[in-house]
Amino acid sequence: MIPKIAIEAVTIRYAGRAGAGEVVAVEGVDLRVQEGEFVCLVGPSGCGKTTLLRAVAGLQPVSKGTIQVTRSDPSRPATAMVFQGAAVFPWMTVLENVDYGLRTRGMPYAERTAEAQRWIRQVKLERFAEAYPHQLSGGMQQRVGLARAFAYNPEILLMDEPFGALDAQTRLILQDTLLELWQTSGCTILFVTHSIDEALTLGDRVVIMSARPGRIMGEERVSLARPREAVQLRSDPHYGEAFGRIWSQLREEVR
Ligand SMILES: Nc1ncnc2c1ncn2[C@@H]1O[C@H](COP(=O)(O)OP(=O)(O)OP(=O)(O)O)[C@@H](O)[C@H]1O
Ligand SMILES: [Mg+2]
Repeated sequence: MIPKIAIEAVTIRYAGRAGAGEVVAVEGVDLRVQEGEFVCLVGPSGCGKTTLLRAVAGLQPVSKGTIQVTRSDPSRPATAMVFQGAAVFPWMTVLENVDYGLRTRGMPYAERTAEAQRWIRQVKLERFAEAYPHQLSGGMQQRVGLARAFAYNPEILLMDEPFGALDAQTRLILQDTLLELWQTSGCTILFVTHSIDEALTLGDRVVIMSARPGRIMGEERVSLARPREAVQLRSDPHYGEAFGRIWSQLREEVR
């Protein structure tokens, strides 16, 4: 099967800033992601996770190797990126925020409003469609970010610690929401997180990166059944075992 994303022998270097030497952010990375797969990327701070996501999005050139994205529906955007913290426009209402991506794609007004409202319902914000971000909690703002990303309907969603700034309880709820949205949309997701719990809750596979220069050190195939529910999962014995295997690989790198 042709992978949706094929990262082959990729090295990415940054030219040093004034006086500083060159930085090798990632080195010799090989990673294949299948269509519809949910892959989580974990690794210590500074190991090149954001750099790699940006390269898949085409926002960052690679120094060596290749990244190939195989399209299946040219009418959809190839990729969209969701960043840490809620990247919503403060001067737009919830509806306008969710509608934004559809507008940039040139979808007619009636169609895109209906589509935006559908995703606003999915993230349970229908009562807040006319509210502005400052009238919402951080968790609600991040729901707006999710609705906007899914409404845009990319083939691949690249998510960079989207829940990193949220409290633990809100995070659990948003993980369940994300799983629901992903299951409805069937898109491919590459998701960066610092949390092994989050990676195991969400992913089909957890890919482990080494400290900088980031290399792929190993991976864990997550055998937990779907549909999953973030809290229930944790009492499954496979969960604890998988957590232990990932942590034993990461521990030295994080030190
Ligand atoms: N524009 C840049 N110019 C020079 N060096 C950079 C630039 N962006 C990132 N780096 C360096 O590249 C390395 C990887 O950065 P990156 O942001 O990809 O790491 P990360 O794994 O996402 O870290 P974190 O988990 O803290 O978000 C770091 O050492 C960083 O300092
Ligand atoms: Mg990062």
